[in-house]
Amino acid sequence: MEFIEQLKQRASENKKRIVLPEGLEERTLRAANTILTEGFAEVILIGNPDKVKDAATNFGLDNISKATVVDPENHEKMNAYADMMVEIRKNKGLTKEEALKLIKNPLFLAVMMIKAGDADGEVAGADNATGDVLRPAFQYVKTAPGISVVSGAFIMILKDKHFGEDGMMVFADCAVHPNPTAEELAEIAVATGRTTRAIAGFEPKIAMLSFSTKGSAKHEMVDKVANATKLAKEMAPDLKIEGEIQSDAAIIPEIGQKKAPGSEIAGQANVLVFPTLETGNIAYKLVQRMAHAEAIGPVLQGMAAPINDLSRGCSVSDIVNLVAITANQAAGNM
Ligand code: ACO
Repeated sequence: MEFIEQLKQRASENKKRIVLPEGLEERTLRAANTILTEGFAEVILIGNPDKVKDAATNFGLDNISKATVVDPENHEKMNAYADMMVEIRKNKGLTKEEALKLIKNPLFLAVMMIKAGDADGEVAGADNATGDVLRPAFQYVKTAPGISVVSGAFIMILKDKHFGEDGMMVFADCAVHPNPTAEELAEIAVATGRTTRAIAGFEPKIAMLSFSTKGSAKHEMVDKVANATKLAKEMAPDLKIEGEIQSDAAIIPEIGQKKAPGSEIAGQANVLVFPTLETGNIAYKLVQRMAHAEAIGPVLQGMAAPINDLSRGCSVSDIVNLVAITANQAAGNM
């Protein structure tokens, strides 16, 4: 069975409530209709109920009637959520008046529903920039215990099955943290190793990418990756991690042997950790488009609740797939 079909089957065994704050956005509505037709999660749409109904009728989406629709202008728990927001942000001086304004924003309402236990996970970003989706999550849901930095991993499904694990690889950070320190990069590598085991289901061989392999170039950017590799190995001795290493040495066996002889990861890497968000984001999009790979994610790592962000260029099936992952995270399957 295909990877994503397995995820849907697992999610349907313990259905979770996934909130989609962009409830009037066409791809989101189409995805919601598919999810409700396939029945692997419950869907909460945020949007004016009349407008949601009209849009569903216009697009011919019969199963949207099975969704719970929440009006951001007039939510029955608005006052209680605003009180929670003031409590959480009291150190930042948030007033009740400001909270009552913020809670009408669907992206804030979604995270407060999760915080209050009224939803189990969120997927957004078809219509909103990543920063706008993430900031409410960072501020109110926050990171999981012991984690300082949230990052985003992509499960890349390549047509060329020679790479990674029968064509499956994990790339990170491709979505969140622009310029991590060595410590943060080490944390991202460890989190990505854990995501790989939990979601992709194979044993990670992690390459910490750079423009240098094992000291072939000297630069502070190289030092950062070498240092992060050392720290990541200390943080997670159970994970196989190699660095700093160039991308060709990471994934092509002959080049790996030449540039990093004796390495058990060089040439065999199935997880690529990029030194900055710039490199990770550019790389995943190029591989997705030029190699016609499927890019599932970003799966956010390190958040205290399952909240995942889409690229604004996403397709309907990207949304459906990310909801399947989010529902599994919410069910504790990964
Ligand atoms: N992990 C955990 N917490 C974080 C992180 C992080 N990576 N980054 C910021 N925060 C916290 C801050 O500590 C702060 O908490 P506080 O308000 O309780 O003190 C809160 O989030 C807000 O932080 P700010 O500094 O106000 O927010 P910032 O301006 O740094 O924005 C953001 C954070 C939105 C993630 C920013 O780093 C960003 O825009 N990243 C790029 C996202 C992006 O555009 N990705 C590419 C597109 S995605 C795609 O193509 C799939």
